[in-house]
Amino acid sequence: MCGIIGVASLRYNVASIIKSGLEKLEYRGYDSVGIASIASNTILIKKGKGKIHEVETRYGLSRVPGSIAVGHTRWATHGAPSDVNAHPHADCTGRVAVVHNGIIENYLELKEKLTNLGHVFKSETDTEVLAHLIEEFLKELKPFEAFRKAISMIRGSYAFAVLISNEPEKIFFARKDSPLVIGVGEGMNFIASDIPAFLEHTRRVIVVHDGELGYITPVEIYLENSKGERINYLERIIVVDWTPDMARKEGYPHFMIKEIHEQPRAIRDTIRGIDENYEKAVELMLDSEKIFVTAAGTSYHASLVFSLIMSKLAGKLVIPFISSEYLSYANSADENSLLIAVSQSGETIDTLMALREFKKRGARIIALSNIIGSAIPRESTLAIYTRAGPEIGVAATKTFTTQVTALTWLAINFSEKRGAINQIEAKSLYKVLRDIPEKTERIISMYEAWARSLGRDFANKNNAYYLGRGISLPIAMEGALKMKEIAYIHAEAYPAGESKHGPIALIEENFPVIFVSIEDRLERRLLGNIEEMKARGAYTIGVVPENSILISKLDNYVAMPRISEIFLPILSIIPLQLLAYYTAVSRGYDPDKPRNLAKTVTVE
Ligand code: F6R
Repeated sequence: MCGIIGVASLRYNVASIIKSGLEKLEYRGYDSVGIASIASNTILIKKGKGKIHEVETRYGLSRVPGSIAVGHTRWATHGAPSDVNAHPHADCTGRVAVVHNGIIENYLELKEKLTNLGHVFKSETDTEVLAHLIEEFLKELKPFEAFRKAISMIRGSYAFAVLISNEPEKIFFARKDSPLVIGVGEGMNFIASDIPAFLEHTRRVIVVHDGELGYITPVEIYLENSKGERINYLERIIVVDWTPDMARKEGYPHFMIKEIHEQPRAIRDTIRGIDENYEKAVELMLDSEKIFVTAAGTSYHASLVFSLIMSKLAGKLVIPFISSEYLSYANSADENSLLIAVSQSGETIDTLMALREFKKRGARIIALSNIIGSAIPRESTLAIYTRAGPEIGVAATKTFTTQVTALTWLAINFSEKRGAINQIEAKSLYKVLRDIPEKTERIISMYEAWARSLGRDFANKNNAYYLGRGISLPIAMEGALKMKEIAYIHAEAYPAGESKHGPIALIEENFPVIFVSIEDRLERRLLGNIEEMKARGAYTIGVVPENSILISKLDNYVAMPRISEIFLPILSIIPLQLLAYYTAVSRGYDPDKPRNLAKTVTVE
């Protein structure tokens, strides 16, 4: 996830408008920043690693001359944050400058072809291929045709804004699976990832749809669909009445709910971002006698899901532990051990300490993080990444489901390579995985109203139990953690079978008990646990598969689709995230900033 902006103006200098637009987009990424403008038919680029104010101090972004310019604030996906990997990216001749948000899936293939044609690449990014492709086609075509042809060769997700010095009054743009909006001004038009980037200047907006492309000038907008047919953009203009803060949240009242809704996109991007390092990670797993997985908080729950899927699918023991407990596990580590360290921020000190202790004993380390170049990936043997984009709400949501997605892929691939499942079985599992983003979307739309209404009842509760067995248990634990941290309700997760060894003593009339049950073979056992709770007056709520035998016993339930159980952790947490969110809101709390909590914990 990155932020892009382009401004085409009749006024002389737009760099300061680009800079202030980028500040509004910084929530989309903040590891490096850059601007390209056209002045006297020449492209000028200033860019560097760091936050906007740091790069401004170093290079004076806002003083770059030119009335046509594009800017970018980056969230690294390919290539660590650095001056050279910062956008914009240029071709060999310096006549093309590109900013991009998204992931180009076939960039290695394109890069090889272009290198064979003599193009020299400066960065490690996927984006740079577009600049060189356009350069190649400019040899025979006019700028817009060259741009259109280059776009037709890109596979993956993108929102592009491009300058070509032969047509210095235009900013070319294209969109697929990454957000892009046009701002319609007076003598000044805009293109950006998000409305807040230009809200100070215009409230008239056109949402660019997937497959559309075109260009803006200070006084003209050209938009066409994927068949090359011109679109009458005047019919598409909407006038927004958002405040800048509402716009930053795309109209959602809080980042947390926006991020819950972003999960289909985040999961899709994570699947698209599975690269050769994931394959190398599986090789390391196959080559290790002992595998450990460690993390804190929500990331630990993702690690537990992984450990259980590895046991279920591959028959391989993966030892999970909470990272702050590393001293009790490190003694069993040696050079035949592998530690998988899971941390969305890549900076959690407990996980970093565990990693260092295991490394000292010769173990190899795989980091799974959402932040390229953060401490945990830097100190690991190998790093793989989720592509959730920046998570601003303190409670982890989209980083959890993307971690589980990435870890589930590792488990499938490991099982296939180890021979625990055959190629046909693996193929059908990959297919189900690819359908998960769409299923996630459906679950969100089916259960948001349910969560809003139940959240109002939960708002009056002081306690709740979350019970599960097998791979349902980490989901119960994650659901309880969400409720605890943002709604401040004492929510406790337990293995369902264990509940009668003590916790049941607290049950009284209307005590809420949430049962997560996504494994068929454990369903019958849960039946007994539900009966026990009901007999004592509990209000029972279930997260269960469609047509589950448990449904008739429950007071309230949400139903998950009947797909392979290993994918249900991703779907079944969603109603519980929504429930925690709406309970917090009903209680009048700000779910984005829970008391006493920090997004990244860097003290032991
Ligand atoms: C809960 C939450 C925390 C983090 C934990 C680990 O919503 O966000 O429990 O999961 O602090 O953080 P990372 O994944 O950054 O290591």
